Amino acid sequence: MRFLASVASAALFLTCAAVPTAPTKHVLHEKRAGLPHAWQKRDRATADHVMPIRIALRERNMEHAEQFIYDVADPKSPNFGKHWSPSKVANTFAPHPETKDAVLGWLEESGIARSRLSLSTGHNWVHFDGTVDEAERLFATEYWHYEHLASGGSRLACDSYSLPEHLREHIDFAMPTIQLDGLQPVENAMTSRETMREVSEGAILGSYPCGELITIECLRALYNFGPGNTSAAGNEMGIGEWADYLWEQDLPIFFKNFTSPQIPANVTPEFIAIDGGLRANLTTVAQESGVESALDFQVAYSIVYPQQLRLYQVGDGINVDSVGTFNIFLDALDASYCTYEGGDQPYVDPAYPDPNDNEGGYTGPLQCGGAPVSNVISVSYGQIEGALPYFYQVRQCNEWMKLALQGVSVLFASGDSGVANRYNAGYPDSCLNAEELYVDANGTRYSPSFPETCPYITAVGATTLLGNDTSSGEQAVTSFGSGGGFSNVFALPSYQASAVANFMDKYAPNYGPNVYNDTGIARGFPDVSAIGDDVAIVFNGTTYSVGGTSASAPIFAGIVTLLNEARLAVNKTAVGFLNPTLYAHPEAFNDITIGSNPGCGTGGFNATPGWDPVTGLGTPDFEKLKAIYLALP
Ligand SMILES: *[C@@H]1O[C@H](CO)[C@@H](O)[C@H](O)[C@H]1NC(C)=O
Ligand SMILES: *[C@@H]1O[C@H](CO)[C@@H](O)[C@H](O)[C@H]1NC(C)=O
Ligand SMILES: *[C@@H]1O[C@H](CO)[C@@H](O)[C@H](O)[C@H]1NC(C)=O
Ligand SMILES: *[C@@H]1O[C@H](CO)[C@@H](O)[C@H](O)[C@H]1NC(C)=O
Ligand SMILES: *[C@@H]1O[C@H](CO)[C@@H](O)[C@H](O)[C@H]1NC(C)=O
Ligand SMILES: *[C@@H]1O[C@H](CO)[C@@H](O)[C@H](O)[C@H]1NC(C)=O
Ligand SMILES: *[C@@H]1O[C@H](CO)[C@@H](O)[C@H](O)[C@H]1NC(C)=O
Ligand SMILES: *[C@@H]1O[C@H](CO)[C@@H](O)[C@H](O)[C@H]1NC(C)=O
Repeated sequence: MRFLASVASAALFLTCAAVPTAPTKHVLHEKRAGLPHAWQKRDRATADHVMPIRIALRERNMEHAEQFIYDVADPKSPNFGKHWSPSKVANTFAPHPETKDAVLGWLEESGIARSRLSLSTGHNWVHFDGTVDEAERLFATEYWHYEHLASGGSRLACDSYSLPEHLREHIDFAMPTIQLDGLQPVENAMTSRETMREVSEGAILGSYPCGELITIECLRALYNFGPGNTSAAGNEMGIGEWADYLWEQDLPIFFKNFTSPQIPANVTPEFIAIDGGLRANLTTVAQESGVESALDFQVAYSIVYPQQLRLYQVGDGINVDSVGTFNIFLDALDASYCTYEGGDQPYVDPAYPDPNDNEGGYTGPLQCGGAPVSNVISVSYGQIEGALPYFYQVRQCNEWMKLALQGVSVLFASGDSGVANRYNAGYPDSCLNAEELYVDANGTRYSPSFPETCPYITAVGATTLLGNDTSSGEQAVTSFGSGGGFSNVFALPSYQASAVANFMDKYAPNYGPNVYNDTGIARGFPDVSAIGDDVAIVFNGTTYSVGGTSASAPIFAGIVTLLNEARLAVNKTAVGFLNPTLYAHPEAFNDITIGSNPGCGTGGFNATPGWDPVTGLGTPDFEKLKAIYLALP
């Protein structure tokens, strides 16, 4: 409707021929709160500098997303497990044609010739190369150079930008605008080095008590599951790795010393290179960028074998942000999300083909679909809400929602810094500015993890044993803080409402609204937890015990893969999006009630009876979950 009105007024101006563009009332669309502490604003951008400009068109039917999800994932729904096909997902959410016409019309009126504009096949992105001067007029803003102090990297960005009032309902956001992130790796973010210890030579299964070294036998005793029995076709478990590489030579040593029944020496994961992802080599192993992968794969193999694993090696190690940029991974799984068809953003996500390839980065085109989608995907990397634009997070969260609709269980480690967070590799844990929520070296407000706060993700926190053996029970991990808290971006999903209400009523600390989102209407995380310390791995030929929610995520994901084996064996579909079923069945968990996740100068939250933002619902009981899932359609 509004589009028709604006075309009419543009036509009027053209006949008068005195004013080149229609006067459009611009309204502030997005503003970056402050400047994250790692960044400095430098010079004004030159007017004729050309940059790739992208406009994300508003997708249709997003207001129904929660209803769609509950239809397939609520244990009370008769359609439980009837996952959507990729084409149903793409057709349901493609933007309305009126949206496309309104935005193209505005760009043409503003002097960007139609021949310069390209539209994604999914019709949810408009792309063109434009000058700084053109972008400044379109978005009523000023572009500056910003420098990232640790790496010397530079970004062209603005502090805020505006859109014509009548287009705000059609546009999610524009790029490049306020984003400052996506720099090359300095070190891996999530592997918690301080909890990595060498174990005496000759350690094997059973040579230490579980309180000192966690092996598969400890996990089976704790979480009530046996060795894998089956390997249903298509149920391979997926694990994503970013700038960390699996040294496959360690697998047979780990299999021989730490698996039972022993996994054969020649077992290796299916290798899926995404956007130039490479295999480990001696250089990467010498640099220690292999501990995370060793942990993820060894733990998962010991749980799911004879089922297989898939290694999604994402990016080229040059362009990939150290704390994990998830959009290029999503692109490879779902073609409808790609740059010209979905969600990438230059300056946050690496742009392919990369015009600035000077360090041996990947030079091929962006991979768009084609990577096999797994029923379960485990990711031990994270970013943080405070460093990413609001609309960026909402759009990526919607893409995780689309995978959930297709029956994919996505599990993320909740973070290793308690209620604080690591802003980026090379920086210590930080908190947020209390008023403006940006990453501030002197911040005092809790810093939630993203995408762990996206309600379509299952976030996994970490526990440790209370005593020497598994019968002693578990507490929240103590050698680091298990990531947890409440989102500043995402609202409380209904599956979590009574669990969060119980915590807020009885146990929420009274730090006031400037320390965390204590409104009771915010998404809380993590959802669940699993052991995350003293876990046995073999890296570079040596046995270590390591800690991190990085261990907890593949442990829980492995158990979900076993649940899928059980359902597939009786001809049912994969469990899909977990959270509505898990929150409906707290009795299937070992409730963790001891420990806390301090940070930001506070004691953080306590693990309490029921759900809490330290250990979630608790740790799993496989046989109980299996009975629940086998009883569902
Ligand atoms: C594996 O176990 C054997 C036999 O105990 C031992 O000799 C070897 O050192 C162990 N390997 C590692 C990496 O600890
Ligand atoms: C393996 O099979 C046994 C017997 O059918 C069953 O009790 C057990 O749960 C199975 N293990 C797993 C991990 O499913
Ligand atoms: C080793 O891997 C890294 C990261 O993928 C890559 O940059 C480097 O070129 C590789 N080196 C060799 C010798 O293959
Ligand atoms: C891996 O092992 C090689 C050979 O033993 C050694 O030179 C290298 O320092 C080790 N790397 C790490 C990270 O331990
Ligand atoms: C943080 O506080 C210290 C000491 O009060 C001060 O010197 C520093 O400038 C502050 N840093 C920022 C980024 O505000
Ligand atoms: C745990 O085991 C150690 C020896 O391995 C022993 O000294 C200690 O008393 C045990 N602790 C408990 C609580 O059983
Ligand atoms: C807290 O969460 C609610 C629900 O998402 C949101 O409306 C509110 O803005 C959040 N508060 C802050 C300070 O971020
Ligand atoms: C298993 O599912 C397929 C596809 O839905 C169906 O054709 C087949 O009859 C089912 N088999 C059994 C034993 O239920």
